[in-house]
Amino acid sequence: MENIDAVPYANRLFSPRLAYKPEIEDGSVVIERDGIPLLLETEVLPTDKLLDLLNALDGKRTLDEIKQDFPPITCEELAEFVETLDRNALIDVTDAYQFKSGVEALFELEDTLNELLHDKLYQNVFWKNCQQERVTIPKNILYGLAIEHYHFLFRQNYFDAPILARRNTGEIRELMLDFFHDEYRHDTIILKALNAIGISEEDLVDTMPLPTTLSLCNALTYWSNNDPLFFFLTLSVLEGKDLAKDTYVDICKKVGLDQAFIKPIESHANINLKHQHGNLTRLIFKNIPHVDAFNLRRLKSTLHLFVAMYDNFYTEVWQHYTDAPKLLRRVSDI
Ligand SMILES: [Fe+2]
Ligand SMILES: [Fe+2]
Repeated sequence: MENIDAVPYANRLFSPRLAYKPEIEDGSVVIERDGIPLLLETEVLPTDKLLDLLNALDGKRTLDEIKQDFPPITCEELAEFVETLDRNALIDVTDAYQFKSGVEALFELEDTLNELLHDKLYQNVFWKNCQQERVTIPKNILYGLAIEHYHFLFRQNYFDAPILARRNTGEIRELMLDFFHDEYRHDTIILKALNAIGISEEDLVDTMPLPTTLSLCNALTYWSNNDPLFFFLTLSVLEGKDLAKDTYVDICKKVGLDQAFIKPIESHANINLKHQHGNLTRLIFKNIPHVDAFNLRRLKSTLHLFVAMYDNFYTEVWQHYTDAPKLLRRVSDI
């Protein structure tokens, strides 16, 4: 097995070939990669020239030759631009035969993930406040998070079910079946907590999740149906890969919320800890024989989108429930 890091990409990037077709949409250059539209901009070239430049990346001409047709751009700028495209898995690979084992690939992916979580998620207003010595989070935000968790778990079958229909190999299939079994109807556990603060199931039927909650559910459903490897990766974050205890439960206790609210939330968190859901992604990747260089770059790049969505979820919970006059966003109020 060849180590990806040991192989220089210089030759491939010497005469690069764009892997997807660029298009102009609403005056901007857009490339759709695996169903996700990516918007491209440079300060050096106007939109039409940028499109021409992307079309010139046909794998037949060297960067030096391409540069002649785009006078303002320097050699360094062009090389940097192509490297950025490559980091986002937009340059076609001639190195697809290079691969790492599932575990090796996951180590790399976890490095990227940890960096993103540390630099983005844990810097947002919700998690910053959770890390304070004296926690002063308004109760409504903690109740609001439970409401959004309920909406999320109510829709968990949207994304946990399609993955079961994939042709997974023996061990992965077993792990996912057990996981589905463990997760079945967890919305009802959170419902008990919400009942304790006077919110009934009928009330929740009449409410809408926040847009970021729903978009997270939709994205996971998309990945579960179309990109199982990436979906497996998201589980490490959603199920708390590094958690020895649950921060949310801890904060609810510190703020002094009622035991009747905390208990069901804590029993849900304990299922994760007891059944080691945080370790599930590692167990799955142990059973994946290899990840090729292109897919590894693609997975890394998609992690940016996932962490941004997860970050938006917590930020919106904080922003909405801080000032919301009512806890429930009722459909009947529209
Ligand atoms: Fe759960
Ligand atoms: Fe879980």
